[in-house]
Amino acid sequence: MQDNPFILEPFRSKEYFCDREQETEEIIRNIANGRNTTLISPRRLGKTGLIFRVFEEIKERALSYETIYADISDTLSLEDFIKVLSDAVVAKLNKQQRIAAFFKSLKSVRPLLGLDPMTGSPQVSFTFSDENQKQSTLIDVLAYLENYPQKIVVAIDEFQQIREYDGINMEAVLRKNIQHLHNVRFIYCGSKKHTMTDMFTNAKKPFYESTSFCYLTKLPVSVYAPFIREKFEEAGKTIDNDSIDYILEWTRVHTYYTQRLCNEVFAQSDGNVDNTVVQKAIQTILESERERFLELRRLITRSQWKMLAAIAKEGSVTQITASAFLSKYGITSGPTAIRNVQALIDKELVLATTDEGGTSYSVYNVFLSRYLDMER
Ligand SMILES: Nc1ncnc2c1ncn2[C@@H]1O[C@H](COP(=O)(O)OP(=O)(O)OP(=O)(O)O)[C@@H](O)[C@H]1O
Ligand SMILES: [Mg+2]
Repeated sequence: MQDNPFILEPFRSKEYFCDREQETEEIIRNIANGRNTTLISPRRLGKTGLIFRVFEEIKERALSYETIYADISDTLSLEDFIKVLSDAVVAKLNKQQRIAAFFKSLKSVRPLLGLDPMTGSPQVSFTFSDENQKQSTLIDVLAYLENYPQKIVVAIDEFQQIREYDGINMEAVLRKNIQHLHNVRFIYCGSKKHTMTDMFTNAKKPFYESTSFCYLTKLPVSVYAPFIREKFEEAGKTIDNDSIDYILEWTRVHTYYTQRLCNEVFAQSDGNVDNTVVQKAIQTILESERERFLELRRLITRSQWKMLAAIAKEGSVTQITASAFLSKYGITSGPTAIRNVQALIDKELVLATTDEGGTSYSVYNVFLSRYLDMER
């Protein structure tokens, strides 16, 4: 059986990764010119994939950078942050000797090395006695990177998470200790546009104007459509243009959902793909997601669910308080609509997109949106 060419993990290799050539170039140029990058996009559009794409390109061009990736989405404190960053450093060092040298450079604490029982990857653990010890360990980790014999790129994924840390202004602590580093370039990556933008463009915030922005948008249809056709053809299958257009329209060209549907279509086809195959794949996906959607329905209020369904049926809504919209879906009042939409945005169920035309709202999860649209 052949491999399914439509990947569902952030990155495998360039071959399975559609485009992002310009963005890759831009980030590499930032690195080469001593600039840090802030990478922002809505969820599941391909930020993490792009980071690994950049790392691969650095390797392919034999640029002399060591690359380190730290996902801080599960961190809640400075201590967690130090641990995740140290794990990422150790994952790169791989040789016992170099790990020993890294540990030795952490002067105020004695880290222990273990293995994650699930993944087998190295795990660093720390026991801190007080707050000062944590701060000096962070400084030591950064100093280790600064003194590393090779230049280093550190990507911190889900960077907005540092705002959730209790009892510490992590932005100030990080900025203070990062700004003087010459040997290390950073990529700060995040999906909460409002928070990310505030961190880097608010004059009162520590990271103000310290980075170059890269806003990731949807892949152009003119690039994604040929990519999809090519992947089918390389595997000895065919797909007609109408089916590709339909897939891209149905998934709104939102990368993850497009990949997921293409993956299912590929899995269900044994030769030629036409609309029948696509429809069957859509049914399979919605069927498999159904339980989760029903669970979600139990987790939010009835009026939030109603609002979500209304937005889904519209596809995208700009006038959330317009009387035509409210009466069409039986929403009691403008303030109710605003309150519910805000709650849905906070839960990352609704995405607010602002451009020159104003703000529009859509259901974040495209499959959920299509599911709600089909419900009576
Ligand atoms: N350029 C691409 N070509 C093919 N598939 C891609 C591409 N970019 C992303 N994907 C697909 O989309 C999925 C989501 O991408 P990724 O995890 O990188 O998004 P993200 O923006 O980091 O999302 P999140 O904000 O939720 O972390 C990947 O698992 C992969 O299936
Ligand atoms: Mg990501």
